Amino acid sequence: MKGVLLSGGTGSRLRPITHTGPKQLVPVANKPVLQYAIEDFKEAGITEIGVVLGNKGREEVQQFLGDGSEFGVDITYIVQGNPLGLAHAIGCARDFVGDDDFVTVLGDNILKQGIHELVDSYREGEYSAGIALQEVDNPHQFGIADVDDRGTVQHLVEKPDDPPSNLALIGIYAFSPVIFDIIEELTPSWRGELEITDALQILLDRGHSVDSHVVTGWWKDTGKPEDILEANRLVLEQHSGSVSGTIESGAEVQGRVDLHETATIRDGAVVRGPVSIAAGTVIESGTYIGPYSSIGADSTIEGAHIENSVIVGESKITTTGKIVDSLIGRGTNIESADGILPEGRRLVVGENSKLKL
Ligand code: DAU
Repeated sequence: MKGVLLSGGTGSRLRPITHTGPKQLVPVANKPVLQYAIEDFKEAGITEIGVVLGNKGREEVQQFLGDGSEFGVDITYIVQGNPLGLAHAIGCARDFVGDDDFVTVLGDNILKQGIHELVDSYREGEYSAGIALQEVDNPHQFGIADVDDRGTVQHLVEKPDDPPSNLALIGIYAFSPVIFDIIEELTPSWRGELEITDALQILLDRGHSVDSHVVTGWWKDTGKPEDILEANRLVLEQHSGSVSGTIESGAEVQGRVDLHETATIRDGAVVRGPVSIAAGTVIESGTYIGPYSSIGADSTIEGAHIENSVIVGESKITTTGKIVDSLIGRGTNIESADGILPEGRRLVVGENSKLKL
C-alpha cells in the first residue's frame, strides 16, 4: 500500500501567515502540520509516499521533507500545479501509485489517533475505497456520508444544503486504483473543482463497496488561525513534557514543558505548561509563558506575558504587554511602545513583521 499526501492549495484562510510559505509547514507544538501526516503513514506501515505539491511553497515543502529518510519514509514528489480539486490532485498521483492500493491524507489535517484504524478496516474487507468520518456540527461545510448500520456507505455528497447526516469525510481515504479511471471522467463541480466526493459516489453507483470508519478522537483541519491554536492546544495536551534544555535556578517551571536541549529558561522567568520551547530559544527573566503556548526556534522572549499562542520562530518579543490567543509569524519583532501598558492582545502576525505594542 502506498501513501498520497496532498500538500497543494493556496492557504488563503491562513494569510498573512501563508503569504510567504505553505500552510502545511505552519508548526503545531513546534512541528509542521505536514509532519504529523508523515508520521501517521509510517505508523500505519506505509513508507512509500507521494507528496502532491501545488504551485505555492513547493521548494519549502521539498526542503523540509527531503527524500523522507529523516522521517523513515521514501518520498516521491508529484506536481499538481493549480488547485483544481482533491480528485485532480489524487489523479496526478496515478503513475506513482501504479497498481497498488493507496491511502490519501490531506496535508493540513491532524488527528489524534492517526490513520491505522481506517487502513486496517479497509485491508480486512473487499472494498474499492474506504473513508474516515466524524460527526460535525456544521455538515454543510464538508463532504457528508450516509452509511448503514454496518458502516457501508450508501450515499455521499459534497457540502450539501440539506445534509443527509452529520457524518463528515475528514480527508482520509483508502482507494484501489480503480478510482483513477473514474477521476478521468469527472467534470468540475459548482465550485469549479474535481471533487473526490463525486468520484466516490460514482464508485457506489457502479456497485463498488465503500468502507467507512468513524474516528472518535479529535480531528482538526488547520485551515484558519484559530484552528492552528486549537490543534496546538490538543497536541500539547497529549505531551507528557520533556526537559533537555537549561532551567536556571530561580526560574519557575510548572506543569508539562518540552524544552529543547539548546533552549534556556532564565532565572526570574515563569513557564507554566503545557508549553513547548524549541531549539536555541531563550526565555529571559521577567517573562511569563502560560499554558498552551509553543515558542518556535531561535527566538528571544523578554518581559512579555504569552498565553495560548503559537510563535513560529526566529522572533524577538520584548514587549511588556500580554499576548494571548495569537499566531505570530516567523522573524517577527514585537517591542513595547513608549508609555503604553496594554491589556491582552490577540494577534495574527505575518512573517518578518515589526510591531510596537
Ligand atoms: O477537511 C475535510 C474536507 O476536505 C472534506 O469534508 C471534503 O469532502 C473535501 O472536499 C475537502 O474539503 P475542503 O473544501 O475543506 O478542501 P480544501 O480545498 O481545503 O483542500 C483540502 C486540502 O487538500 C488542503 O490541504 C489543500 C489540498 N488540496 C486542495 C485542492 C483543492 C490540494 O492539494 N490540491 C487541490 O487542488
